[in-house]
Amino acid sequence: MKTQVVIIGGGPSGLLLGQLLHTRGIEAVVLERKTRDYVLGRIRAGVLESGLVDLLEEAGVADRLHREGQRHTGTQIAAGGEMFGVAFSALTDRHVTVYGQTEVTQDLYDAREAAGLRTEFLVEDVVIHGADGDAPFVTYTQGGSERRIDCDFVAGCDGFHGVSRKTIPEDVRREYEKVYPFGWLGILSRTPPVHEELIYANSERGFALCSMRNENLSRYYIQCDLSDSPEDWSDEAFWAELKRRLPDHVAKDLVTGPSIEKSIAPLRSFVTEPMRWGRLFLCGDAAHIVPPTGAKGLNTAASDVHYLYEGLRQFYETGESEGIDRYSERALLRVWKAERFSWWFSSLLHRYPEQTAFDLKMQEAEIAFLRDNEAQQRAFAENYVGLPY
Ligand code: FAD
Ligand code: DHB
Repeated sequence: MKTQVVIIGGGPSGLLLGQLLHTRGIEAVVLERKTRDYVLGRIRAGVLESGLVDLLEEAGVADRLHREGQRHTGTQIAAGGEMFGVAFSALTDRHVTVYGQTEVTQDLYDAREAAGLRTEFLVEDVVIHGADGDAPFVTYTQGGSERRIDCDFVAGCDGFHGVSRKTIPEDVRREYEKVYPFGWLGILSRTPPVHEELIYANSERGFALCSMRNENLSRYYIQCDLSDSPEDWSDEAFWAELKRRLPDHVAKDLVTGPSIEKSIAPLRSFVTEPMRWGRLFLCGDAAHIVPPTGAKGLNTAASDVHYLYEGLRQFYETGESEGIDRYSERALLRVWKAERFSWWFSSLLHRYPEQTAFDLKMQEAEIAFLRDNEAQQRAFAENYVGLPY
C-alpha cells in the first residue's frame, strides 16, 4: 500500500503529528510496536507548556484538557529547610498546564479512532528503506505476515530505543550524551497533593519532587541509586524518605496512601544530530532525551512536531521544501536550549557522588541567587513555561 507519511511510533510525538497532518488532509499511517493499553499504561510527564497546549488545540484534541487540566502559574523550590516560589505568570505572563501524558495520549488515540485513521499495533521488525532517495518505504511484520508501505516521508517518532535513529548511517550521525549517576523513583497515589504548586526540593539526602495529576491524584519522585529497584522500596519507606527531604512545614501536611504505580527512571541527557536524513525525520525521544527535572521531554518532543508539521504542510500545500530542509536546524536550536535548562536545573537540585564541599556551596549560592534575583527568576520562568517556537 501507499501513504504520504509513515509515522513510526504511536507515543505522543507520533500521534500528535498524525493528528495535525490529518487537519490538513495529509495522510499518515502510524506503526506502533506495543498495544494501545500498554502505551497508555506508562506514567510519564505531567506538565505541559502552552506551545504544546496550542498544538493540541490546533489538532482538535484539547477539550478534555481544558476541562480537567490545572493551570499552574508558579512553582516552589525548597532547600535548606525553607521554600520559595517563582511566579511564572507575574514574570512572563504565561503559565503551564498540569495534565498527564497518559491523558494527552488517550485523547489523541480517541481522536484518531473517531476520524478512522489507520494505526497498526504490535508491529515487529520495522525497517526503513531508501530514506536517502526519492521513494522510501517501510517494511514490518505483523501477526506473522510481512507488510510494506510506500510513502513520501518517514517520521521517526519511536522513542530512544526505536529503529529510526539507528537507520541514519553512523558516519552521518553525531551523538552527545551525559548519563547521570542516579535515577528517580516515582509513585502515583490517590491522595491530595501536598501543595497547590509543584515543589522541587534540594536536600542533603537528595532531590525530591512533589507533583500531581488532579486534586486527588499525586505524583512524587525521589532521587535514588541506579542499583535500586522499585521492589526495594515499600510505600512506607518511600513516604518516610520523601518527608525527610521536604521542609518540616511541608512534610507535616503530606497525606500518604497506597501507591498505584511505582517505577524507576534513569536520568540521561542525549542529542543526536542531524535530526533529518533524506526523507527520514526524527522527532521527540528518538532524537533527544533530557533528565526529567524541569519537565522538558514531552514539551521538546512537541516543538519538534511543530517544526516538522509546518515543514510538511508547506511542502504539500505549496511544493516548497524550505521547511523540511531547515527542520533539523530549527528543531535542534530549541532542543539544545531545553537540554541546557534541564541539565542546569538537575545540577541545582541533586546530590552527585563526586560533589565536593565547594560544589555544595555553589549549589547553595545558585539557589539563593534564584530566590533573591528577579532577573534570574525571569530567566528560570521563561525556560520553565517554554521558550517560543
Ligand atoms: P515515546 O513516548 O517513547 O514513544 C515512542 C513510541 O514508539 C512508543 O509507544 C514505543 O512503543 C514505540 N516504538 C518504539 N520502537 C518502535 C519500533 N521499532 N516500531 C514501532 N514502534 C516503536 N516530559 C515532560 O515534558 N514533562 C514531564 O513532566 C516529564 N516527566 C517524565 C517523567 C518520567 C518518569 C519519564 C520516564 C519521562 C518524563 N518525561 C517528561 C519525558 C516524556 O515522557 C517523553 O519525552 C515523551 O514520552 C516522548 O514522547 P515520544 O512520543 O517522542 O516517545
Ligand atoms: C512531573 C515530572 C517532571 O519531570 C517534572 O519536572 C514535573 C512533573 C510529573 O510527572 O508530574
